[in-house]
Amino acid sequence: MRSKVNWALLVLLVVSLAAGVAIQPDPAKPNIDYLPDMAHSPAYASFSPNPILPGGKTMQLPVPGTLPRGFEPLHYQDTEADVRRAAVELKNPLDPQKAKDRGTVVYQNFCTPCHGGSMRGDGAVAMHGFPAPPNLRGEKSMKLSEGQMFHILTFGQKKMPSYASQLTANDRWSVIAYVKSLQNEAAEPAPVQEAKK
Ligand code: HEC
Repeated sequence: MRSKVNWALLVLLVVSLAAGVAIQPDPAKPNIDYLPDMAHSPAYASFSPNPILPGGKTMQLPVPGTLPRGFEPLHYQDTEADVRRAAVELKNPLDPQKAKDRGTVVYQNFCTPCHGGSMRGDGAVAMHGFPAPPNLRGEKSMKLSEGQMFHILTFGQKKMPSYASQLTANDRWSVIAYVKSLQNEAAEPAPVQEAKK
């Protein structure tokens, strides 16, 4: 029995050595694919049609109720009643002094095109035909509470678009802290000029 096994092993060895010499694989050419479906799985690009998924589309809508990581739901709607509710209920959670630096950057990038650097509504976009926003240092805008501004930035107000998709809640509160700080500056009485002697 043992000698038969030894013979079989010897034959196997000779055959595999002979095969190794005879086949001489070319390293420049791809190897033989066993189970090619696994080596080359049919991957669909996000926007390519898909024969398997519902609607024939590769990119599917998220499951209803899906929230992005870190998303905080806001329990207000785009209604007049909720503007008033936000005005009294919502408070800026950030320390105004610390938030101002970030708010300055946000304002310069997202708000100056329309509201202008001085907040008077004279940004480049407004100068070229877009309805000019009101002066944020004007009497009416000075009365806006931070909560109301947050509602405006989140849902928009008439011609002013919503900034909810461009700015995180944190950035919206930061820019509000900045706008408020400039408004307060404007509200302060002008420093009394000392008469030159
Ligand atoms: C595309 C131009 C545009 C941009 C950009 C823009 N706004 Fe406005 N904003 C407007 C217009 C127009 C109004 C007036 C809306 C109305 O008629 O009630 C307005 C109104 C406002 C008001 C309410 C003023 C009031 O007295 O009712 C606030 C506050 C405000 N914007 C803040 C901002 C901030 C902060 C940014 C930057 C994140 C910003 N806006 C970006 C156009 C813009």
